[in-house]
Amino acid sequence: MSGSFDGMVAAVTGGASGIGLATALLLAERGAQVAALDLNPQVPEPLLGIGCDVTDPASVDAAVATVVDRFGALDVLVNNAGIGAQGTVADNDDAEWVRVLDVNVLGMVRASRAALPHLRRSDRAAVVNTCSIAATAGLPQRALYSASKGAVLALTRAMAADHLAEGIRVNCVNPGTADTPWIGRLLERAADPAAERAALEARQPSGRLVTAAEVAAAIAYLAGPDAGSTTGTDLAVDGGMSGLRLRPRT
Ligand code: NAI
Repeated sequence: MSGSFDGMVAAVTGGASGIGLATALLLAERGAQVAALDLNPQVPEPLLGIGCDVTDPASVDAAVATVVDRFGALDVLVNNAGIGAQGTVADNDDAEWVRVLDVNVLGMVRASRAALPHLRRSDRAAVVNTCSIAATAGLPQRALYSASKGAVLALTRAMAADHLAEGIRVNCVNPGTADTPWIGRLLERAADPAAERAALEARQPSGRLVTAAEVAAAIAYLAGPDAGSTTGTDLAVDGGMSGLRLRPRT
């Protein structure tokens, strides 16, 4: 696998933390030139950090233009920037729905729109969206977040259909609960962080949280030339959460 991204250029939104950072570093390790597009673009070498707010079309267009100016092409877009939301359908007001859908769904639309002209010029073009287990399983207290990720799943398939003839593959990954700074923040806010972490771990059939590196490896597979016949799919990286029906552990 090592070197399979030689000569390729990748842009990862939300690439300065968690799953996005792990993905950006893995693609770079495998030979790509990689830009991390993030609100906070502080990233380690060899990544190129570019300030970008996916809710701002001008910011997204400028960031993608900077990637292409700097590296001369764009072969892979990883649409990963996302934010969380908690509560039932009754708990968030319209403004919060608009805010979360703006980042999680329209953010991917904007970055994809900006990247498409460059992806069309690549002979190894791929888009990978970070979706979620919340798109395929009903989770309590996640109505808005789940709706946003359900939209990402549908968008992934529609984009795969639209751009197949242009040689652009589009797939997504569905992580289970992943051990990233995001979950760290969630646990900090819990009344009993240790109990909350144990509950999240117990929800995974594997009994542990997914690692950012495991999600990054799945994204890299879908983004890379080895997945040349794979498009319109969602790859679960969830410790068995979406597909398994186990008996309680004894
Ligand atoms: P994280 O919070 O560690 O990283 C998210 C990054 O996105 C941050 O660097 C943040 O600055 C950036 N970001 C947020 N809003 C942005 C905006 N408007 N413009 C540009 N960048 C922005 O989170 P994590 O856990 O790595 O999540 C990444 C993706 O994975 C998200 O789409 C999330 O929905 C998804 N996911 C996470 C899971 C988890 O349990 N951590 C599970 C399933 C999916």
